[in-house]
Amino acid sequence: MAIRYIEQDRTFWLDTEHTSYLLAIVDQENFVGHVYYGQKLQYTENTPAPVYLLRTGEAPFVPSQNNRERVSFLDSFPMEYPGNGLGDYRESAISVRTAQGHVGVQLQYVSHEIVKEKPALPGLPSTFPGDEDCDTLILHLADPVIGLAADLIYTTFEEEDVITRSVILKNTAGQPIYVTKVMSACLDLDGTDEKYDILTLHGSWGRERQMERRSLMHGKQSVGSVRGESSHQEHPFIALLSADATQDAGEVYGMHFVYSGNFLAQAELSQFDSIRMTMGIHPENFVWKLEQGESFAAPEVVMTYSSEGLSGMTHHYHDMYRGHLIRGEYRDKKRPILINNWEATYFDFNTEKLLKIAEQASKLGIEMLVMDDGWFGKRDDDNSSLGDWFVNEKKLGGTLSELIDRVHAQGVKFGIWIEPEMVNEDSNLYREHPDWAIQIPGKLPVRSRNQLILDFSRKEVRDNIFDQICAVFDQGKIDYVKWDMNRSMADVYAGNLAYDYVLGVYDFMERLVTRYPDILLEGCSGGGGRFDAGMLYYSPQIWCSDNTDAINRTRIQYGTSFFYPVSSMGAHVSAVPNHQTGRVTSLKTRGITAMAGTFGYELNPALLSDEEKEEIREQIKTFKKYEMLIN
Ligand code: DGJ
Repeated sequence: MAIRYIEQDRTFWLDTEHTSYLLAIVDQENFVGHVYYGQKLQYTENTPAPVYLLRTGEAPFVPSQNNRERVSFLDSFPMEYPGNGLGDYRESAISVRTAQGHVGVQLQYVSHEIVKEKPALPGLPSTFPGDEDCDTLILHLADPVIGLAADLIYTTFEEEDVITRSVILKNTAGQPIYVTKVMSACLDLDGTDEKYDILTLHGSWGRERQMERRSLMHGKQSVGSVRGESSHQEHPFIALLSADATQDAGEVYGMHFVYSGNFLAQAELSQFDSIRMTMGIHPENFVWKLEQGESFAAPEVVMTYSSEGLSGMTHHYHDMYRGHLIRGEYRDKKRPILINNWEATYFDFNTEKLLKIAEQASKLGIEMLVMDDGWFGKRDDDNSSLGDWFVNEKKLGGTLSELIDRVHAQGVKFGIWIEPEMVNEDSNLYREHPDWAIQIPGKLPVRSRNQLILDFSRKEVRDNIFDQICAVFDQGKIDYVKWDMNRSMADVYAGNLAYDYVLGVYDFMERLVTRYPDILLEGCSGGGGRFDAGMLYYSPQIWCSDNTDAINRTRIQYGTSFFYPVSSMGAHVSAVPNHQTGRVTSLKTRGITAMAGTFGYELNPALLSDEEKEEIREQIKTFKKYEMLIN
């Protein structure tokens, strides 16, 4: 039994193979306190739960014993899901505004359920049990004055030493409630004399997921994104490390978000040296109008504890994501070694050029050709045609079906690039539906790569693009799709848009993988700008970075590998001098680096010397020999 309720102590005891997580209901007002998270505690029927860790018998005492100093209790008690505006001055997990404009919310225990399943989150990607038995604790909390109910959901994955968390809010007020912040998880660790560090990943385009470790100081330290995507700049992850933690030893508490939009991940060291970690949707510009009877689901946080340093944490995440997040027939299968024409041709290609690449690549042992950006509308550069998903037969010099058949005839699979969420103003789609682009009336739209974002929160917009793309995919046997997304969001016209947009993207992706279950989907966002656990639910691999320089890649892939399995990290051998950095590295270095990912090529084989071709043949043989071991 992974989850127990110990009646006499009013304690919930959650176990995984090596960890325990305890929370308890306290005082007549039913506060929910966080008791313990860490190395496994041995449960026995005769031993009381260690609720003394909450120190409710010490001053300032619970409100029923010392309501005169109610604030002192609230200001220091380790809250499981802290409210806002009512005396807990640390970071809140939730904030709301009532129809009358009141703030101030505190959710107290009402009842609970323990079930032997993991409920899915409506419209959101989330981890699933697979072959494993999962126990779930659903804590029903409420603020009866406001009329807000909240379910805190905890599922234990015993073998992986993971606990997943999410929150579902429900309005019972009889009038709207405006939710301005809803964190998916909070972890309040009691004050200790120990020093802690926090670990985060930062970056930029071409330099994603660089590890950064710093001492946790008093106050709040956070990373986040308000770019509408998880972003190149900061990753939806935070870990708290004992200051002595290394790769293989020491304590690590990790939180990772299964969501692809705005996020906030924060650690706060309080006046009493307690630590509060929170993770959820970034509250900036977020306002969700929750109507009477309606629910709101906050995305999932995957939480883990390791007493074996960063390696332990990484193993938990890898096991978790390989077994309980990545889906589709390619999950455990060998992936075709691909060649992508982007760095070989950029926009300058036609059927003959592509066939030549495929022909030469197949002689080297490469198994799939991917036709990147530039095959649709009238797109010869990045100024036009996004939104016009019809094949540019004039440019290709033939139909897509012919191209696919001729590529297949060479024994090579065929893949295609799309960027469904975007629109250029120079497109038929924009001319017909300018209101489908995200813009604020009267303000100049923020262009990026000369493109705007389509409002995927609207079903008619998604339907139009979906139909267009299916009409292309149905022209032949497409084996692989690279789904790109090349800009961050701006011009957000309403407080619910950024969330609704991400759910719209998920809806589209779900429809795509359902309709084309055999297609291998690779995510991409100007490289690795949306490499996150939400996307991994739909695409078993994601392009790590537009920077293909082997030396830079070692760091990018190292940071990425903290949570994401090798089989999910898109990595290619490209030409030298490298197109992004100008550096020359040996083919051997480039090969080894790409083999620590999905492995493929992104160059023009016609420009290779005979020795290089021979070396590539050997690389492919080596990769094929070790592929399953590496993965
Ligand atoms: C950005 C991607 O990361 C590249 O690999 C390439 O697909 C370009 N977009 C195409 O526009």
